Amino acid sequence: MPLLAIETTCDETAAAVIDAEGRVLSSIVATQEKLHERFGGVVPEIASRAHLERILPVIDEALSRAGITLADLKAVAVANTPGLAGSLLVGVAAAKALCVALDIPLVGVNHLHGHLYACQVAAGRDVFPCIGLIVSGGHTSLYDCRTPLDFKLLGGTIDDAAGEAFDKVASLLGLPFPGGPSIERATASGNPRAFSFPRSFIHEPDRLEFSFSGLKTAVRYAIAMPGTPWPTEPLDSKLVADLAASFQAAVVDVLVAKCRQALARTKAARLCVGGGVAANKPLRECLTRMSEELGVELHIAPLELCTDNAVLGAIAWERLRAGESDPLTLDALPGLIR
Ligand code: KG4
Ligand code: ZN
Repeated sequence: MPLLAIETTCDETAAAVIDAEGRVLSSIVATQEKLHERFGGVVPEIASRAHLERILPVIDEALSRAGITLADLKAVAVANTPGLAGSLLVGVAAAKALCVALDIPLVGVNHLHGHLYACQVAAGRDVFPCIGLIVSGGHTSLYDCRTPLDFKLLGGTIDDAAGEAFDKVASLLGLPFPGGPSIERATASGNPRAFSFPRSFIHEPDRLEFSFSGLKTAVRYAIAMPGTPWPTEPLDSKLVADLAASFQAAVVDVLVAKCRQALARTKAARLCVGGGVAANKPLRECLTRMSEELGVELHIAPLELCTDNAVLGAIAWERLRAGESDPLTLDALPGLIR
């Protein structure tokens, strides 16, 4: 019997049906990109209202594509942390209602752990133990993952997440939301060495932390120094390409260096990478080169599993197999617990 996984942590309403072998029987993602585009970022109130409208049709679609009915479900998994409070609540409430009605187990999952578990779903075999890098819109974290249920946080960002930096820099450059894909496109004709942007902590191997706010400010000052007026005309396209390419190179350099330092510290033989920013092609290429050089086995989530989706909830099978599930008092926890 498969489980139904529900994902509403940020701005994607998603449901997936996954069997005990980790096979994905269906995966539906209703994106809200169009709703948030004109604000240049996710508006929490709009996100939670949109989840409310979409959650039931998305669940229905996931069940029907998998060719099953509610009565065929073994459990319901829901990402209950971290995320936007109002968004998380919609998924958690839907999951609880189904579990009460069907009298089946409720399994809360950590969305970030799920992002890494996507690597295992894609590989179709065990990818643990590993070093895990999660690079998303809300988080940039390095984990020492001993098992799918034992993640030790090695370090995270002390300010902006990598994806957030992509989104904010895109907005400075006048590029559309979400910023990651539009910056990547804009880099095509850009020179990554045109601007020498900061790479925080890159030479501090004992500090497995990230900081992207200084980089964002450096891009801002490259466009207009403090005290000078912000340009009223759109920026020159060559300047945008050079700024985008130099910014992206700085982010990629830092992410790759921190993975290298985490691998050296833990002597881990595998690296798994997930989250929206893991869709970035230059990042994927640089991680591949580094892993080949170090002889480390690399698993980067496939593109369709990088950005938010409910297949991440496949990690719930690990909890069920360990005899774990949650009471109906399961809370939505917006902050990162570990
Ligand atoms: O994992 P995700 O879908 O949502 C969160 O859990 O936050 O990640 C979304 C983030 C956004 O900031 C988006 O700009 C970024 O991932 N992103 C990318 C790319 N595609 C998405 N960043 C860089 N390059 C990309 N190709
Ligand atoms: Zn995510």
